[in-house]
Amino acid sequence: MLAAISYSLRTADNMREGKIGVAILGLGTVGTGVAEILSQNRAMIFNRSGVDLELKKVLVRDPHKKREIELLPEVYAKNIEEILQDEEIGIVVELMGGLHPAKEYIVKALKAKKAVVTANKAVLANYAPELFQLARENNVPLYYEASVAGGIPLIQPLTESLVGNNINSVMGIINGTTNYILTKMSNEARSFTEVLKEAQELGYAEADPSADVDGLDAAHKLTVLVSLAFDTHIPLSDIYCEGIRTIDTMDIRFARDFGYGIKLLAIGKKTPSGIEARVHPTLIPLNHPLASVNDAFNAVFVNSQEVGELMFYGRGAGRYPTASAVVGDIVSAGRILNGIGTTLSRKFAKGRAVPIAETKGSFYVRLMVEDRPGVLGDIAYILGQNGVSVASVIQEGRAHDQVPLVFVTHEVKQGDLAKSIKNISELACVKEVANVIRVEKGE
Ligand code: NAP
Ligand code: HSE
Repeated sequence: MLAAISYSLRTADNMREGKIGVAILGLGTVGTGVAEILSQNRAMIFNRSGVDLELKKVLVRDPHKKREIELLPEVYAKNIEEILQDEEIGIVVELMGGLHPAKEYIVKALKAKKAVVTANKAVLANYAPELFQLARENNVPLYYEASVAGGIPLIQPLTESLVGNNINSVMGIINGTTNYILTKMSNEARSFTEVLKEAQELGYAEADPSADVDGLDAAHKLTVLVSLAFDTHIPLSDIYCEGIRTIDTMDIRFARDFGYGIKLLAIGKKTPSGIEARVHPTLIPLNHPLASVNDAFNAVFVNSQEVGELMFYGRGAGRYPTASAVVGDIVSAGRILNGIGTTLSRKFAKGRAVPIAETKGSFYVRLMVEDRPGVLGDIAYILGQNGVSVASVIQEGRAHDQVPLVFVTHEVKQGDLAKSIKNISELACVKEVANVIRVEKGE
């Protein structure tokens, strides 16, 4: 059910028509970029949008820290209350990250009838229904373009341009840090740890980078994408989530031999059994457009009944790309506060994702096995007993006691594959189940 809500003209006595005060909570990688763009491009933004945005306050943890941007001392707010009580501030931009106190500050800002812009996918993944309800009750916009895929305009197209589409699936690379790591591991054979450090220095990684490498950041973003694609809130706990720590350069090499690249994909799919929502490393054909999305770039494929396939591509992380999306939201919010814009508000159903064991797919399996006759036969027997059929095999060998035995299956239920892998792991000739990775053909 969709309904257009138009917000009424803000008429606080102390606010000049058209001019809106902005407060930024957090002046780190993204906050600094937003503050710079608002200051440097103020006249251009006003000329293009009719909204005059004045950066009035910022809130940080440590106001004495040396910053990359110089702001007048009075711009630093002592606390959140100072911002909430300032009637000239119409828009609060939350760029602190983390769940708390970010969520509480967003709640307070909405209750104070400030428009809110956030890039915080963790907060959205955990509290979206409550926050959107609060925004509706207080008749103020809550925007979050930068929360998924950084600088790529994606939320607005999904909300507005594609409003008449029945979406079948969304599938993409929505974590810049892991894509950066996998790219460097694939192209330069560099170690995971070394490349992660570099991604942190470049400002791509979360404060706690395990959120990136373990897939949680992508899962947070997938909750947002799935809700917009299927009008359904899937709880974060239902999203299957697997990170990239287990990916070895050996897997990247074998995947390439089979004709695939390895990417961390977030996938939301409408299937006859329900909505699938999963994040995991994935083999995708080398000729699939997602296989050539490199470094911190993100890309999202949307497949809909009406428009067919769309691909959104661009920088998914970093100061200015992310700030670009945040500033777009600030301007949209400003237009609404000034009575020259409207927004669409939709209702979301509550839903559950299909359990991962019930989902079907092809799988890449790398075993470390004894190098002796009969091993392949023993493994093939167990696979056959569980109805798993093998599409291709590579067996390398003779140099060591243990050799890799790598195969790609035809389509199978994940639960059935898991059963056969468990049986296989109990064979004396199998030294290690080194990796099991899903394959997406991208059809
Ligand atoms: P960041 O560099 O770590 O900056 C966080 C800022 O928030 C710092 O200025 C910090 O103050 C301030 N802060 C933290 N806790 C605070 C508190 N309790 N009270 C007041 N200020 C507080 O983070 P970021 O990379 O800019 O990310 C900000 C948000 O954008 C996160 O939600 C992130 O997930 C999201 N995002 C980031 C990117 C990216 O490429 N970095 C892309 C898309 C979305 P101090 O400076 O005093 O420590
Ligand atoms: N840490 C996130 C990433 C930032 O690497 O994609 C952008 O959301």
